[in-house]
This record gives sequence, C-alpha cells and structure tokens, in this order.
Amino acid sequence: MRLLCRAERHFDALAYSFLVIGQSMIPIMSRCTMEMIERWSTKDVKKHEIDVFTELKPSSADIIARTAFGSSYAEAKQIFELQQEQLLLEGKIQSRPFIPAVRFIPTAFNRHCWRVEKSIEELTLRTIERRTQCRKLDQHEDAQDDDLLGLMIDAMEDRGVERRTMTMGMADIIGESKTFFAAGQETTSTCISWTLMLLAAHPEWQERVREEVRTACDAVGFPTSDSLHRLKLLSMVLNESLRLYPPLPIMLRMSKKDVRVGKTLVPKGTVMMLPIIAFHHDQRYWGPDANEFRPDRFRDGSSKASQSKSSVFLPFSSGLQFCIGQPFVLQQAKIVISAILLHYRIIISPQYRHSPIFAFILQPEFGIPLLFESI
Ligand code: HEM
Repeated sequence: MRLLCRAERHFDALAYSFLVIGQSMIPIMSRCTMEMIERWSTKDVKKHEIDVFTELKPSSADIIARTAFGSSYAEAKQIFELQQEQLLLEGKIQSRPFIPAVRFIPTAFNRHCWRVEKSIEELTLRTIERRTQCRKLDQHEDAQDDDLLGLMIDAMEDRGVERRTMTMGMADIIGESKTFFAAGQETTSTCISWTLMLLAAHPEWQERVREEVRTACDAVGFPTSDSLHRLKLLSMVLNESLRLYPPLPIMLRMSKKDVRVGKTLVPKGTVMMLPIIAFHHDQRYWGPDANEFRPDRFRDGSSKASQSKSSVFLPFSSGLQFCIGQPFVLQQAKIVISAILLHYRIIISPQYRHSPIFAFILQPEFGIPLLFESI
C-alpha cells in the first residue's frame, strides 16, 4: 500500500478517504477535549497554572489513536507508547558516533531496541487479526470501522494479501501508523500550545475569539461541523500562529537529478534545506511587522495575505508533498481552543520563559505555563 507515496498521493483513494473520515471525527475530538477539561476542573481553585505544552500531548495522542484506530483504540495506545519509546531510542542512536554494523551486535541497548520492535509487530498483527476476525463474523465493536486501520486492511485485502503473506502488508501498516503518530501527535499539540500562548499574550484577541466561539458553538460548548467554518477569527489566529511558530520549521529535499535553482546548479543527490520559518518571518513578503502577531493579515480578501499565502506560507508544505493531516489538525485545534476559551480566561504565567528551540519540531524549551482562570 502506498498511502504516503509522495508522487501518488494526490490520486490515492486512501489519502482522500482519510480526509473524508476527518469530517466524522468531530465528536471524538470533542469527547477527548471534554475529558481533558474535566480533569483540569477538579483543581479546586479559581485560578491555577497549567503547562499546556505538557498537558496537551496525551490528549492529542488520544485523539489520533481513537480516530485512526477506532474500536482498536486500546491496542493503538500501547502501540503508540512503544513507538514513542522507539523514537527516543532512535534519537539516542542518531546522537552516537556512527560505527558500521554496530546495530547488529547484541548489546543490552540493541536487545532492548529489538524487543520494542518485536512488541510493536506482535501487537499490530494481533490488532489486525482481531479486526479481520470481527469483520468476518460481522461483529464490529464500534460503528467506527471506517477508520484508518479499516482502510489499510481494505487496501491489503484488495491487493489479495492473504494471512500467510501478511507480513508485507503488516510492515506497511506498521510504517503508516508510525508516520501518523510521529507526524501528527507532537505537531498538533505544539501548534495548539503556541496558539494558546499567543492568545494569552494578546487578551484583546482572546476576547474577540471567545465572543466568536460563544456565537458559533452549540449549547454544550462545542463547534459543530457547520459552525467550525464560521470561526473566521480563530482561523486567522491559527494561521498567524502557524506562521510565527511553524511546528515543522524546516523541510529537507534531495535533488533527483541535476537542477538549476536561480543561478545555482544543484547536482543530483544534494540535500537541500527549506527554511520555512525564515520565509514566514521575511519582511519582504510580510511587511515591517513580520515578527509581530497580526492575525488580520489573514483576513479574507487581504491582498497581501493571499499573495503571501500561496508562495511563502508553508506550514503544511505544498504541492504533492502537502500534509494530509491538515484538515484534521485545524478541526482539532478549533475544538480544543474553543472549549478552553469557553471555560477559562488564560493569562501568561510569571513562570513563562520564551525560548522556542528546534528539536525536529519547534518547541518551547521550558514549556508554556499559563494561568487558567475559571469563567
Ligand atoms: C500542526 C500540525 C501539523 C503540521 C504543522 C504538519 C506539517 C507537515 C509538513 C510540513 C509536512 C511535509 C513534510 C515534508 O515534506 O518534509 C507534513 C507531512 C505529513 N503529515 Fe503533517 N503536519 C501536522 C499534523 C499532522 C497530522 C495531525 C497528521 C495525521 C494525523 C499528519 C500527517 C502527515 C503525514 C502522513 C505526512 C507525510 C509524511 C511523509 O511523507 O513522510 N500531519 N506535515
């Protein structure tokens, strides 16, 4: 299965299906968000401090696990936890000097890496088997069988992959779920955290967005799929946050052949870095206030914004390599931020130290502690 095959992505029915599924994820996102708010509200004080950067991570992982793996959520959580451990282990490997073939020596560290890898494979295989069994017996534990896992199993079956040759299909599924987890979890929670920091730092915008949310949301306080489109101010704020603090601040590309970029000849095989964050702060495109928080630049019809958007506003990349999670992120961010603003007034904590650092994702080095005041 080539869900993420870059060249084919535009034509890939699976990627398209994922976007369609996105429309039905709103109730799941709302439920996870409500659970988080309920956890916070047990703190029996009118004003309390929360490091949103730390607090939002598990909730984002929950949302991805529930939406991508639906009824197999419990197994997905375990797989994601193991994948998170695997990412940390990979980070350790990357930071060590490279010694050829050292990965194959059964040191304690390597044996641990292999155990983690094996557990992921076993759990994934068990999950797929359980799901295919349920399908055969028509026993869906949950109506949400048209989730990402369901689509991947469909793709495997369409290709005629039998149980005995399933290893190949399974490797694909493991790869895809790893990408989703890695690509989706931290980026989303980081984007929401920076946006909350900006709203806390700009109380006038916070009030305006809160008012918009009050008008657009249902009685329970969540946007419906219709009202999400009406959150124009919040969309502008999110865009401005993604411009100032793009969670993926650089992208890497390798030239497949000799290519001329302007006056420079780039030989085949050259790795190029696209400094997205530099484009987003370039005064030539955004004006002298490029480093300031001015969501108005994304107001519909603003000529400067529409010019800039198409060429140098690239938080989700563009063209064939665009981020297929974009609609998912924007929905989730709107739901989480709306719920928070309806329940709390947020204020920058005196503990906050502004220090964005690049650790694959543009992260706040010391977290984002905010004061939450119940409304
Ligand atoms: C604010 C949150 C996010 C941002 C800023 C973001 C940004 C990006 C960018 C810039 C790329 C292109 C990377 C490249 O070409 O080098 C990308 C790729 C991708 N994104 Fe996202 N993303 C976000 C959230 C998500 C979510 C929630 C999902 C899935 C649920 C997701 C799934 C993917 C996938 C599958 C790819 C392709 C990865 C690959 O081809 O290797 N992203 N994203």
